[in-house]
Amino acid sequence: MDLYEYQARNLFEAYGVPVLPGIVVETPEEAQKAAEKLAHPLMVVKAQVKTGGRGKAGGVKLAHTPQEAREKAEKILGMNIKGRTVRQVLIAAGADIACEYYFSILLDRSNRRHLAMCSKEGGMEIEQLAKERPEALAKVPLSATGIDETVARSILKEAGFEDEELISKATAVLKGLWNAYQGEDATLVEVNPLVSTVEGEIIALDGKVTLDDNAHFRHPSHEELLDKRTENPLEAQAKEKGLNYVHLDGQVGIIGNGAGLVMSTLDVVAYAGEEYGVKPANFLDIGGGASAQVMADGLDVILSDPQVRSVFVNVFGGITACDQVATGIVKAIEILGDKATKPLVVRLDGNSVEVGRKILEEANLEQVTMVETMDAGAAQAAKLAAGC
Ligand SMILES: Nc1ncnc2c1ncn2[C@@H]1O[C@H](COP(=O)(O)OP(=O)(O)OP(=O)(O)O)[C@@H](O)[C@H]1O
Ligand SMILES: [Mg+2]
Repeated sequence: MDLYEYQARNLFEAYGVPVLPGIVVETPEEAQKAAEKLAHPLMVVKAQVKTGGRGKAGGVKLAHTPQEAREKAEKILGMNIKGRTVRQVLIAAGADIACEYYFSILLDRSNRRHLAMCSKEGGMEIEQLAKERPEALAKVPLSATGIDETVARSILKEAGFEDEELISKATAVLKGLWNAYQGEDATLVEVNPLVSTVEGEIIALDGKVTLDDNAHFRHPSHEELLDKRTENPLEAQAKEKGLNYVHLDGQVGIIGNGAGLVMSTLDVVAYAGEEYGVKPANFLDIGGGASAQVMADGLDVILSDPQVRSVFVNVFGGITACDQVATGIVKAIEILGDKATKPLVVRLDGNSVEVGRKILEEANLEQVTMVETMDAGAAQAAKLAAGC
């Protein structure tokens, strides 16, 4: 899960990383009140959207008075930045910036370790810096112990920091950011810009944080960080039922067991669908021990998608044998009743396939077509979705 800047800001504050006072609001009136409360000679009105380049898009504006904060908020709220509508703005105190730096910690999956990146040239897009002047971006692999005093200093030195007072202050900030990264099970903590002010302070002016969803069970408080309004309603419904579902934009619903099988099902359906102009509607892995209820929950989510016109159930029986899956499909259709009228293409293979097929044949469900192979199933489901 990605956090909004204001959530990252609050997290940093909790870990002792210096940030500026800020209040998140949803209306121009609230923006004015927030600015009155901050009572700062310079304020910044910042769009809260989970994408980069907000400044360039006009989503970060300065304001000198509460009235001006209101006007700027009015301009920014409702703005569309890279396909995301701005619903909230952060009214933050302005910093007297001397220099802008870049710092991040991320999970470097390909090398199976954490990586710190630091540059004295912050503010600009880091991808651009990495491409144009890679020598200006220090990349320091981290061990499991992360960033302590010594490591922080070596990162800063490698990035070209020389001033001892600055290094000493920045060291504390880097350690705080590591603590936030590790303490919250993040996979990314990025501060661009990390600034030094005219007064000589180091402050995190911006924050991007990605939390590891697989570690959610360790952090009940992360639930509150989820923005339910921007969540896809089908994905929310699936999450509630504990299903591994990702909504896509097509017409052929997909259910399979095992992430690998579901991924390849998506591929063959996309391929078969080219001819008919249809695509996969979702990813749904019902996992190993798929009960009738799990099948019903999965089908329910997929059939609630108004774009779906057919469903391809592609199951390879393993620990959960095909007869259990077949019984699951029959019961799921029974449970769903009128909700399950769209055509279902079923391919069963693996453990107890004969019994499974027999169960489906005997149930004689009019919406179910059985196929022998994955390719045949994909072609049939695509054809049905196209109304052929
Ligand atoms: N509190 C602040 N005080 C003074 N200047 C600020 C403040 N916040 C941001 N700025 C200025 O605005 C610039 C852009 O701000 P910020 O980094 O938050 O947004 P962005 O980089 O455009 O967005 P994104 O990080 O999503 O790409 C900063 O580089 C900084 O110069
Ligand atoms: Mg930024």
